[in-house]
Amino acid sequence: MLLLLSVFTKILHTTHSITFPGDIQILKDLKNGLDPNSITPGSCLSSWDFSVDPCDHLFTNRFTCGFRCDRLVSGFSRVTEITLDPTGYTGSLASTGWTLPYLQTLDLSENSFHGPIPGSLSNLTGLNRLCLSMNSLTGPVPGSLGSLSLLEELYLDNNFLVGPIPFSFNGLVGLKRLELQQNNLSGEVPDLGKLKNLYYLDLSDNRLSGEVPATLPTSLVELSLRNNTLFGKLPNSLGGLVILQVLDLSYNELNGRVRSFLFDHPSLEQLTLSHNRFSSLEVVNNEGVNSKLIALDLSYNELRGLLPAFMGSMTELSALSLEHNKFTGMIPSQYAVKAARPGHGTSPFERLLLGGNYLFGPIPGPLLGLKEGSVNVSLVDNCLYRCPDMFFFCQGADQKSMQDCKSFGPYIP
Ligand SMILES: *[C@@H]1O[C@H](CO)[C@@H](O)[C@H](O)[C@H]1NC(C)=O
Ligand SMILES: *[C@@H]1O[C@H](CO)[C@@H](O)[C@H](O)[C@H]1NC(C)=O
Ligand SMILES: *[C@@H]1O[C@H](CO)[C@@H](O)[C@H](O)[C@H]1NC(C)=O
Ligand SMILES: *[C@@H]1O[C@H](CO)[C@@H](O)[C@H](O)[C@H]1NC(C)=O
Repeated sequence: MLLLLSVFTKILHTTHSITFPGDIQILKDLKNGLDPNSITPGSCLSSWDFSVDPCDHLFTNRFTCGFRCDRLVSGFSRVTEITLDPTGYTGSLASTGWTLPYLQTLDLSENSFHGPIPGSLSNLTGLNRLCLSMNSLTGPVPGSLGSLSLLEELYLDNNFLVGPIPFSFNGLVGLKRLELQQNNLSGEVPDLGKLKNLYYLDLSDNRLSGEVPATLPTSLVELSLRNNTLFGKLPNSLGGLVILQVLDLSYNELNGRVRSFLFDHPSLEQLTLSHNRFSSLEVVNNEGVNSKLIALDLSYNELRGLLPAFMGSMTELSALSLEHNKFTGMIPSQYAVKAARPGHGTSPFERLLLGGNYLFGPIPGPLLGLKEGSVNVSLVDNCLYRCPDMFFFCQGADQKSMQDCKSFGPYIP
């Protein structure tokens, strides 16, 4: 009897599992999906030993790291967080069996995982943070991820993902941060207007086409669509993003007018529209005195006309680049004063780049006293009457030839 009892308790003991069985399978699949040669001896993953219960042996020498368990009322512990340290593993993501409704964080960033993103990740219904950045993931972004309604942060950046951003992403209603930059995504930017909490959106360095979407979440604080193939005009809706601080639409094919609401915006600090095809600039009514802009880059466009004098009156502005456009006329004295001796309560220009235009006339007096190194100013490659090399802001390239200047505008003296 005693013997029987002891055998029985022994069986009970060895078969008792703390970790939810399905969760053990996921951890096994994750390890087995990797190239065994890439799992370095002594690393966190090499310590995973499934002859013992994972959650019960977490942070022992059998499971040194990689996930977190929380005990649930049912008696099982569930894996709530998986984080594989950046150690350069190579392998694919296991493509089956992802059913961990309790997993809240999955962070496999900065490994060398290749292969597709398994659509079954959408079965991780409790996820609020999914981070697969900086791997070598290929194939499309699974539309099924759009059902992860608790997701707050999604990072798929720096991979080799192709195809469109799924329309279903408009269903990620809890999303606060979305990073898809540095992939090979194509198609139009989908409507994300339902993402009422989204404050950070980075879709830069892809091959997205179409126009800047007319509906964007008004919760946005930072928006980058840099380096895609977006064309068309700036939508009015950008003016409705009243808490936006950073807007980068550079390296696209946008055209038309740079809208005045961008210079009269209650919170915008950094505006980068360089390397597009904008052809004109709307003048703001109130001289931009309410503007919070600190850095403004409109370089490498096709902007024409006189330099906008009001940019010399914007109190916070300290970096202005209007290089490589088709501006003409004289350099406004407001610019020179702001670079050399701004009034009280006004930020000085730390950068004033006006090279590569058709500016003419003399160099404004206040600039002549600027010391090299104190401020970054460039006036090269214009039609200025004289811009001798003794001034640092004239160094690096000559002024344009008389012929180039005359053929651009016959009135240039
Ligand atoms: C979610 O899990 C169920 C059950 O394991 C499976 O049948 C289904 O295909 C999974 N969903 C996806 C999108 O893979
Ligand atoms: C991006 O996709 C295009 C078209 O499929 C392909 O030609 C190109 O090589 C891809 N670029 C990268 C960096 O994967
Ligand atoms: C634009 O993105 C492509 C592809 O990601 C990259 O090769 C290129 O260097 C980027 N260009 C700029 C100006 O950032
Ligand atoms: C001035 O700023 C431009 C643009 O950031 C940079 O390329 C250049 O090196 C800077 N020049 C100096 C002298 O700091």
